[in-house]
Amino acid sequence: MKLNIALLAGDGIGPEVINEAVKVSDAIAKKFKHEITWTPALTGACAIDAVGVPYPDETHEICLAADAVLFGAIGHPKYDNDPTATVRPEQGLLLMRKKLGLFANVRPTFTFPSLIDNSPLKRERIEGTDLIFLRELTGGIYFGEKGRLDDGETAYDTCTYTRAEVKRLAKKGFELAMSRSKKLCCVDKANVMETSRLWRETVQAMEKDYPEVTVSYEFVDAVAMRLVQWPNSYDVLITENLFGDILTDEASVISGSMGLMPSASVGEHTSLYEPIHGSYPQATGLNIANPLATILSAAMMFEDAFGLKEEAEAIRAVVNSSLEQGIVTEDLVSKGNKAYKTSEVGDWLVANL
Ligand code: IPM
Ligand code: MN
Repeated sequence: MKLNIALLAGDGIGPEVINEAVKVSDAIAKKFKHEITWTPALTGACAIDAVGVPYPDETHEICLAADAVLFGAIGHPKYDNDPTATVRPEQGLLLMRKKLGLFANVRPTFTFPSLIDNSPLKRERIEGTDLIFLRELTGGIYFGEKGRLDDGETAYDTCTYTRAEVKRLAKKGFELAMSRSKKLCCVDKANVMETSRLWRETVQAMEKDYPEVTVSYEFVDAVAMRLVQWPNSYDVLITENLFGDILTDEASVISGSMGLMPSASVGEHTSLYEPIHGSYPQATGLNIANPLATILSAAMMFEDAFGLKEEAEAIRAVVNSSLEQGIVTEDLVSKGNKAYKTSEVGDWLVANL
């Protein structure tokens, strides 16, 4: 099979973790006789430095023409500490999501048997956790009207959702639930927010089309608490953009490291695969970042974008054996053991595929 993939390494540790994902993907392609064409493109702070905007038109054209996009990370501290900056790397990611119509962000949380004790949470609480967040990605407060009033003392961000936006996300949630344990949780703040009431009303009206799915409606604050207490009680969760952003960072604690969790963003045009972690600027260039979340995102890409399940399973299997054998970067290393470099982990995976 010919796989035409846009490669957006981005900022910080992005290029380092992407490099390892490319090595592993190329090894898979060789093993299973596929031909990958990687087309690199700029996004984030590096795009601002090069051409003045974080998501150049040329990058968008490359993404549109590709079968899938593999993405590293975005962000640079020089912008974080400058609230007056008018162009920011993160705008590139938001614009990319919007222009590619990537309205659903699929973020799984699972545990690795060999890493259970890496989580700060107790083994008996997290063992067997296997849940998926479907985060709405192109609406809500991220994209609503925002600004400052003339008095200079007042700022606002508005949260807006249409029924159609809720429906298309919820539809994916119901379908995903049907393919799993038929349990769906709608996370909202319907006791306070009007947009949440629209979410709840819309999802409730869809229940009749999926009679086998059991739907629960829970407030986001309660979910934040239950997620770390009883993660096993959840399976598929659907939620709006900001709640999903916050809860998925929280959920990553269950797996023991943010460096492990992959994600997919899907919708109208080319799907995008990326680790859920950020650009980890302090580690840039040190060859210490954990490449596994990006490598597991590549596995998601093989399976979901190309229907290559066996290839995806091969990646997951070799990642599992690396974890079992302690071939891990410093975020996962247990006391007294050696921490491997980013590139050494990639080399080991390639050698053991
Ligand atoms: C994420 C990130 C982004 C978000 C930032 C970088 C804009 O935190 O993908 O979760 O808030 O969506
Ligand atoms: Mn986030």
